Amino acid sequence: MKKVIAIDGPSGAGKSTIARLIAKELGFDYLDTGALYRAVALALRNSGIKPEDGDDQLRDVLNNASIIFKNGRIFLNNRDVSEDIRSKEIDHLSSVFSAKKIVRDFLLDAQRNTAVTTNIVVEGRDTTTVVFPDAWKKIYLDASMEERAKRRSLQFRERGIKMSIEESTKNIIERDMRDSRRDIAPLKKPEDALLIDSSNLSIGLVKEKILEFIRAEP
Ligand code: DC
Repeated sequence: MKKVIAIDGPSGAGKSTIARLIAKELGFDYLDTGALYRAVALALRNSGIKPEDGDDQLRDVLNNASIIFKNGRIFLNNRDVSEDIRSKEIDHLSSVFSAKKIVRDFLLDAQRNTAVTTNIVVEGRDTTTVVFPDAWKKIYLDASMEERAKRRSLQFRERGIKMSIEESTKNIIERDMRDSRRDIAPLKKPEDALLIDSSNLSIGLVKEKILEFIRAEP
């Protein structure tokens, strides 16, 4: 396995922005594992699968789905779905479907294989604990609920989708609960991860802190 820098944290903590910057700075590849879960949710939704459906129905769709993350874009069956996966509906469904073992198993090898030939910065919910428990460097990026809700609301509005702070807060509370209380691979900070609270830090400062941590030891 090549060098892996794994970054986990809740929704809105700033993982994607920072992971992209760190990857660029170090010349590593970048993998947004949330985009993989979102593409799976889109594939299942497009096939009419409901969260309450059985594994056999999910398996049929998964077996026929090709999901590829390349150069910061996500492709489902060769179609670029990078924008489609950012809707409110997929926000919700990705969190719901990602709690299922069959979905997590489906994506596990795909995530691990990304580090076979290239150094990588990977971010998500269980990249430091389950996908790459032996990662070279682990970071847990957090921020206050207020700050995360503000950032998520702004991200939606920048894409032309209405999202009040109240709605954003409600969504984040729901997703936090689901992502961190599920039975399989819940979001949690491992002992050996550097904790950074980005609530009052600029992106530049977060980047500096992470680079300092990465360069400190072998
Ligand atoms: O990081 P994100 O908001 O794009 O992720 C969307 C959902 O995917 C999130 O609510 C939970 C799930 N997810 C996961 O279960 N494990 C990961 N490593 C990444 C995302």
